[in-house]
Amino acid sequence: MNPFSFHNPTRLIFGEDQLKHLENELSKKLNILLVYGGGSIKRNGVYDRVMAHLSSLEANVTELSGVEPNPRLSTVHNGIAICKEQNIDFILAVGGGSVIDCSKAIAVGAKFDGDIWDVISRKAAPTGALPIGTVLTLAATGSEMNAGSVITNWETNEKLGWGSPFSFPQFSILEPSSTLTVPKDQTIYGIVDIMSHVLEQYFHHIDNTPVQDRYCESLLRTVMETAPALLDNLESIPDRETILYSGTMALNGILSMGVVGDWATHNIEHAVSAVYDIPHGGGLAILFPNWMKHVYQENPARFRQFAERVFDIDCPQKSDEEAALAGIEALRQFWQSIGAPSRLADYEIDHTRIDEMVDRAMLFGPFGNFKKLQAEDVKSIYEASL
Ligand code: NZQ
Ligand code: ZN
Repeated sequence: MNPFSFHNPTRLIFGEDQLKHLENELSKKLNILLVYGGGSIKRNGVYDRVMAHLSSLEANVTELSGVEPNPRLSTVHNGIAICKEQNIDFILAVGGGSVIDCSKAIAVGAKFDGDIWDVISRKAAPTGALPIGTVLTLAATGSEMNAGSVITNWETNEKLGWGSPFSFPQFSILEPSSTLTVPKDQTIYGIVDIMSHVLEQYFHHIDNTPVQDRYCESLLRTVMETAPALLDNLESIPDRETILYSGTMALNGILSMGVVGDWATHNIEHAVSAVYDIPHGGGLAILFPNWMKHVYQENPARFRQFAERVFDIDCPQKSDEEAALAGIEALRQFWQSIGAPSRLADYEIDHTRIDEMVDRAMLFGPFGNFKKLQAEDVKSIYEASL
């Protein structure tokens, strides 16, 4: 494996009835910006419970609501303006990955002398951040325990991932029951996103990573075992708990110790969402199997391992290439079986804007660590996904 150094500063507080820890994590009388989305936290009671704790802490609370799925730069700008005008000293994000990502950008933007888009688009380095805490209500992104954030500039149709050591949450509180109201489609997208995060880190060419490999395989198998039961009964707390914990473990850096993930498919998906504003997990379900088919010949043995260990495909008589293709097909079928989309046409996307999406994906040049993708590779992955 590669040499590595690992540090994750986020305190993870997990389990039922853990919201009370807000009172240990926050000092009294803070000037708090409470960031949330389109109202799900009001409908499921999480908002009232958070407000009760903030009231015990005698916090002065300013609200920024309406953060969009695929959060927009304009909302980040609003949040930064509030932080500066109201002298905010802590940001509390309550919601899914979009709310958390938006809050991270606000936190860094509040301490940056210039436009936050320059940081997001890698033209400038961040200089600090307001502290952030999160209350997660949707299992998917891992944003609750990583430094990453993805923001869409709707004026330029750019959706960019960025991160900095300043953007880790100080703490994140995860109560499985707060995810009970996540609707079926968002639950499916979350499951695909979690599995995709594992896959991005599984496909590499680095030798001697048996522990990392089995962490990945165990997460994939556990999510696949749990997903059908959860989708049959969205109110199963044990299944919500398993998926919630899997989501954090899939992208809190642990799987990447000693390896370098690929991350091309995420870049390719973000370019689709930037142009068509589709759900991230839906896009990944369509694109990932096609990325796999495009690249498996770089290391068919690794794809054979995936087929054998994740899908129990037992095919000693098959070549590595045949086994690899069987594993890719099994993944595609699994996602289809849980109701994920499988073609861009499912979102009414045709060839019309493919070149635009390719340009978006190529913004920083060729990308992907398992196989470096050029514009023609990206185009053929989009074409295979139509
Ligand atoms: O806005 P509200 O009303 O809260 O509703 C949301 C939203 O409509 C709803 N929801 C959330 N919790 C709920 C709930 N509905 C009922 N009950 C609950 N408990 O779900 C919808 C989607 O929420 P969103 O936050 O957009 O979903 P997700 O967590 O999947 O986040 C997606 C965003 O994260 C980015 C994606 O690109 C996308 O922009 N990503 C961030 C990453 C990171 N920071 O590390 C990595 C990921 O790969 C991903 O790219
Ligand atoms: Zn993702």
